[in-house]
Order: sequence, then structure tokens, then C-alpha cells
Amino acid sequence: MVRQTKFEDQKKKWEADVDKTIARFPERKDPFMTSSDIEIDRLYTPTEPTESYDEQLGFPGSYPYTRGIQPTMYRSRYWTMRQYAGFGSAEETNKRFRYLLEQGQTGLSVAFDLPTQIGYDSDDPMAEGEVGKVGVAIDSLKDMEQLFDQIPLDKVSTSMTINAPASILLCMYIAVGEKQGVPMEKLTGTIQNDILKEYIARGTYIFPPKPSMRLITDIFQYCHANVPKFNTISISGYHIREAGSTAVQEVAFTIANGMAYVDAALEKGLEVDQFAPRLAFFFNAHNQFFEEVAKFRAARRIWAKIMKDHYKAENPKSWKLRFHTQTGGSTLTAQQPDNNIVRVTLQALAAVMGGTQSLHTNSRDEALALPTEDSARIALRTQQIIANESGAADTVDPLGGSYYVEELTDNIESEVNVYLEKIKKLGGAVQAVEDGYMQREIHQAAYQAQKKIESGEEIVVGMNQYEIEEEIDPDLLRVDEALEAGQIEQTQQLRHNRDEQLVQKCLTELKEAAGTEDSNLMPHILKSVKAYATVGEISNILRDEFGEYTGM
Ligand code: 3HC
Repeated sequence: MVRQTKFEDQKKKWEADVDKTIARFPERKDPFMTSSDIEIDRLYTPTEPTESYDEQLGFPGSYPYTRGIQPTMYRSRYWTMRQYAGFGSAEETNKRFRYLLEQGQTGLSVAFDLPTQIGYDSDDPMAEGEVGKVGVAIDSLKDMEQLFDQIPLDKVSTSMTINAPASILLCMYIAVGEKQGVPMEKLTGTIQNDILKEYIARGTYIFPPKPSMRLITDIFQYCHANVPKFNTISISGYHIREAGSTAVQEVAFTIANGMAYVDAALEKGLEVDQFAPRLAFFFNAHNQFFEEVAKFRAARRIWAKIMKDHYKAENPKSWKLRFHTQTGGSTLTAQQPDNNIVRVTLQALAAVMGGTQSLHTNSRDEALALPTEDSARIALRTQQIIANESGAADTVDPLGGSYYVEELTDNIESEVNVYLEKIKKLGGAVQAVEDGYMQREIHQAAYQAQKKIESGEEIVVGMNQYEIEEEIDPDLLRVDEALEAGQIEQTQQLRHNRDEQLVQKCLTELKEAAGTEDSNLMPHILKSVKAYATVGEISNILRDEFGEYTGM
């Protein structure tokens, strides 16, 4: 009977949470029905609840969150449809942003070009040939103002895929908000700000680990006090998976990195409940539908247990693993690109069945180029069809209770814990990364996976089976080569017109602060960007102080 009471107690708490939630986020239908007029319950639970149900599953919106972080999930609010976008100039990208918002996108996600991501201005020789190529070129606050022209920052949340110079771009975003009359405490969004996965898999790092961790935790500290609604990091497994890891490694290495950030913030003297509620995550949605669903459910449960039991966080918001998902870029094929629409649909459906908070769906042509407007629209429509036509959003955690998915969730959890134990023995994620441990594990997994494709054991439709003779689609997006010259000219003009004395004063103060171990650099970077100091100038001040990292 004790079990029944525990289950009943949890259920009563969930019902109270539902009432509270509905006050802020009413459910979009009442009732939800199937096409045959059968009512769809908010949640399905076992008629004979077992002890493991209480411990391992519980209710959505309650610890350990296996079934989702919100009591009503998508019945109240769909996941944020947040398409990663950016290319060419701030003007070009602003147009694409406004197009996607008009087409029903509900959140923004900025792709920066490589020079911006590694702290070079467009006129730096290191930037040659890359300006505006894989993302938007942002040199100064002027570009950032253009990027968000006619986009009210109090009405939309913005994710920025920026890591080493994250503090600079966040300060520019704050400055744009102020110019729009939106105070920083009202700004919502996320900066990726996850340097460890850059060392492991993505490569856009600048500084060595120690100063990088200082910059990251400066942001935690500054945002807790001044930008409380902004997610200060998006701890990413996406790129680890793209580098060839398994689903288990994706979760394990991401969570290990997350623990390293928590440890660094605690070492800085922050309280866990001050910063943990604004830690966010970012995962891949790969093939193998059921494993992906189980992966997300296991990740939530693992993180909840770590935050509650290991770090003794007391605020339930510190226990919730909130995540964004991007469908697997590396699964897209250049062959028969329309087939990618089907892959992306299945991967997006896995993310939804796994309880994602935000989702990017890849475009069919992204194995070949940045997406055209048509391809980007189809990718967004994919999400809208899943949301509005499939029924997947009409009940919470629809695959919960499946013998297969629950067993897979348990198996993934235990295999992730084996990795976490190993990484702990190596001295934690930073040491493991410096030793190349995670990189070796990923390369081994990638090698095995590639061998299976090459032998035909693993079928990739259109690529190693069901091939056809085909032409590459001529309608690919091309970034105008003249853009680079235009961007360079604009930035040199800006330097000419700004108050140079003020810029130099700000940069000198920043340099002094960077040389003082326990000073928070954010206020100095904010002053510098407001004076129109550039990404490259500010990054170079930090390069002089911290040095550059030459790789693991
Ligand atoms: N019931 C009650 N409340 C709900 C709700 C529900 N069903 N659904 C949402 N809410 C509330 C939330 O609690 C939140 O309120 P709060 O902030 O007061 O708690 C608000 O509504 C917004 O909801 P979410 O926070 O869930 O949704 P967001 O979209 O705002 O945030 C996130 C999602 C995962 C927490 C955030 O970090 C995010 O948006 N991340 C996106 C990261 C991203 O886009 N990355 C792209 C990187 S691209 C890349 O790197 C790949 C490249 O390299 C190739």
C-alpha cells in the first residue's frame, strides 16, 4: 500500500502543478480528441504503479523529470521552433530572420561566420575568404543593431552560437536591447558559451582552458545579477555526436562537461542555485528513433540526480535539464537531397517524443550549402506539421511505459554512468579533454560507424543503396563574394567615425581587469562594445593577456 500512497502523493502534486501551469499557459484544446472522437488524456500511467515507476519515472514537471520538465508539456506550449540562421551581412541575415518569424518561427538562433566565432574582424588577414560564409559577419555593435533591426528584443528569445567571444556578443546584444529601450533584465535567450566541446569537437576556441572557464563563469555571475532571464550556457552534445560519438557518449561527455562548469562556478564562489537554473543543454537528434527518445529521457533523469544528490541543489529549477535539439547534420546526404526531408522529420519527431524545449530542423540541401529560403521554409513546416497534425504534442511523454523505450532509457542511463565514473577517475572533464580521452573515444566510435557504412552493413538510402544518376541542384544558396569587401569597408568606416579616445580608454581598462584574477570582465566588455570597439580589438586584448590555445 505504501507504493500506492507514494504514487498517489506524486499524482496529487502533479495535479496541483497542472492547475498552476494552466493559469500561465492554458492548454490549447479542451478536450484533446483523436480523429475517432476518443478523448486523449493529458498523461497515461500504469494501473498498477510499481516502486520503480515512482523512483525512475514519476510525473512530468517533477523530479527526476524523466517524463518531461513541464506538467503539461506541449499541450500548453509547443517547443520553440528555433531555426539556426545566418549568412553574409547583418542586413541579409536580418531579412532571413524576419522571413522566418513571418512564417511562424517562435525563436531566433544566430549563426555567426568563422571570423566572428574566433575573434577576428572582417578586415583581419585571418578572415580572408571566410567573411559571411558559414554565418553572419558581426564586427561591431553597428552590425548587431542591423542584425536585429525591426525585431523587438522584448518579444523574442535569441540563441547565439558563440563560444570563445560569447561575452562580447552577449554585451552587444545587451547594448542593442538598451538602444531599443529593452532593459537587460527583460532580455531572454541563450549563448552557447561551451568551450569544452569546442576543444573536443567543434574547434572555435581561442584561449586556454583556465581563462576560458573564467570568461564563462564571469557570464554566470554577471547574468545572475543583471540578466536573470538569459540562459548563460548551452552545454552541447550536438557537435560531439556530429564528430561521430555514440548516443551514450553524446550524453556522457555533455553531462561531464556540464559538471565541469558547475565545479568551476562553485570554485568561483557562486552558489549552485544562483546559476544552475540558467544552465541549458543542446543535443543532436540522430537516426535510430527509439534510441534518441530514450537518450533524452535518460539525460534528464541523470542530470536531475546529479544536481540534487551530488551538488545538493535545492531549487527544483536547478534539477531540470532543459534542452534544444538540432536534427543530425551529419546524417544528411548530398545524394537525392529530398530524402533528407524524411530523415529530418523522423529525427524531429524523436526530439518531440523525447521532450525537447526548442528545436531546429535541418534543411534538405544542407549537405551541399547553406539553406535556400525554400528549403528553410520546408524545414520549419516540418515542425509545424508534427506540432499541429501528428498528435505527438497532444499527450505528455507518449512513449513512456513502452517496454522497449523504458528498458533503453535504463540501459543508456547505466552506460552513461559508467563513462561518468571513468571521467571522474581521470580527474574530471577538463583533464579528460586535455588527455584527449573523449576525443579518442569519439574517433573510435566514428571509425566503427564509417566501416559499417562502407561495408554496406549500415544502409544509407541513396548513398550506398538505392542510388540514382543525378545532377546537383543548381538552386543552391551562394554567398555573394563582393560581400567581404563591403563588410571590410563598413568596418573601416566605423573605426574612422567613432570616438577613438573613448575606445582606447575602454580597451586599456579591459586589459587591466583581464590582468586582475578576480575581476569580472563583463562590465568592461560592455563599455567597450558601447564605444564601438570591435570583436577583433576586444579579442586581441584578451589574446595578449591569456594567450592562444594551440589545441589538445
Ligand atoms: N508549461 C509551463 N511553462 C512553460 C511550458 C509549459 N509547457 N513551456 C515553456 N514554458 C516556459 C518556460 O519555463 C520558460 O519560462 P521561464 O524562462 O520563466 O522558465 C518559457 O516558457 C520559455 O520556455 P523554454 O525556456 O522552455 O523555451 P526557450 O526556447 O526559451 O528555451 C532552452 C529553450 C533550451 C532552455 C534555451 O537554452 C534555448 O533556446 N536554447 C537554444 C540553443 C540553440 O538554438 N542552439 C543552436 C546552436 S546551432 C549549433 O551550434 C550547430 C552549429 O554549430 C552547426
